[in-house]
Amino acid sequence: MRLLIQGGRVIDPAHEIDGHLDIHIENGKIAQLGRSLPSDGARTIDASGLIVAPGLVDIHVHLREPGLEAKETVATGCAAAAHGGVTTLVAMPNTRPATDCPAVVELVREKAAPTKIHVLPAGAVTVGQMGEQLTDFAALKAAGAPALTDDGVPIQDLALLRQAMIQAKKLGLPLLDHCEDRDMVCNYAVNEGRISARLGLPGRPAIAEELQIMRDVMLAEETGAHVHICHISTGKGVEIVRQAKRRGIRVTCETCPQYFILTEDEVLRQGSLARVNPPLRTRADVEAILAGLADGTIDAIVTDHAPHTAEEKARPLPEAPSGMVGLETSLALALTATYHTGLLPLKRVLALMSASPAALLGLDKGTLGVGRDADLVLFDPDREWIVDKDQFLSKGRNTPFHGRTVRGKVKYTISQGNIIYQEG
Ligand code: DOR
Ligand code: ZN
Repeated sequence: MRLLIQGGRVIDPAHEIDGHLDIHIENGKIAQLGRSLPSDGARTIDASGLIVAPGLVDIHVHLREPGLEAKETVATGCAAAAHGGVTTLVAMPNTRPATDCPAVVELVREKAAPTKIHVLPAGAVTVGQMGEQLTDFAALKAAGAPALTDDGVPIQDLALLRQAMIQAKKLGLPLLDHCEDRDMVCNYAVNEGRISARLGLPGRPAIAEELQIMRDVMLAEETGAHVHICHISTGKGVEIVRQAKRRGIRVTCETCPQYFILTEDEVLRQGSLARVNPPLRTRADVEAILAGLADGTIDAIVTDHAPHTAEEKARPLPEAPSGMVGLETSLALALTATYHTGLLPLKRVLALMSASPAALLGLDKGTLGVGRDADLVLFDPDREWIVDKDQFLSKGRNTPFHGRTVRGKVKYTISQGNIIYQEG
């Protein structure tokens, strides 16, 4: 199929492109960018008034299959991705069984193939994510895993973590680390502080995250491994990464819209819907995350899309599972909180959601170069809309953003030249 995308404002941060251009797509690839290209019988999309950008690359998504299909399946998660403008995603390994061997990596990839979303299953660091025995990193890499992580379950054993970094470094695989000391956070529901005290609940202290970030930085320095800190949520955590980068240590980090928009107070309003690991923090932390986005300390905006059933999330705060969905709201939330406030230029927001995460995992994604897969998102940056969880294609409806007015609406998502989502 041939497609011509006409009259949009093309922004490709990796190539420093920002201008009104047409894009010709042929055989699933970007064939040409230029002014006033002839249609030559291709199907045309009128993109006037829209931004045309690389499809979003979300490197932190929980698809839940195999084993937890009541929460989400690969198919529903990928439909949600398309709805949100995401064309490439990294699927987390806390499935049942865990994605700790090539067979599970292959299974997830097979399930994803018909969806046209590029799904890259991350491999678990330890067998069953039990934190005891390393998985076969080389075999996971050969099966297509772009990175290793035990996300959801912090790694406590320092000797094991150091060995993991030494092996990951040899294979050129980044280690994506969920930093929170397990003995300090247990299964607690909220940030330790004002709100936990008010609710009379034990809390998850910021230091539990910061200590593991510091630990990871030191191990990254010593082993030379690339450590990527998942969903950073505290101001001091951002500062540790900032200093480490200045010293030339191979550490990168990501955050999620919930950490630069919401505070722990949300728990009082929304209860279990505002429960997430790491927890929502304080206003000062939110400001520090925004500063980290602005000065380049934070490399990527991801979702940590973590669907749970309505029944699970209806449980009282101490018993409900942690996590919130995000694939269908991330672009709008990021634009609303950073671009429309004047904090970041549009090109930078898009880089944080495509080119930069792709580059840090070494993926050939997130740009609009000629000859690349034609993965694009077309969106109206200014269009106001109200988040409605009942419009989600994800099985998960667990968002604390339901009812919120946001700006920036996805109109088309195109993957490998196929229109995989179109508004209306
Ligand atoms: O809130 C979270 N939910 N944080 C994680 O690290 C895991 C995730 C999940 O799998 O539900
Ligand atoms: Zn995590």
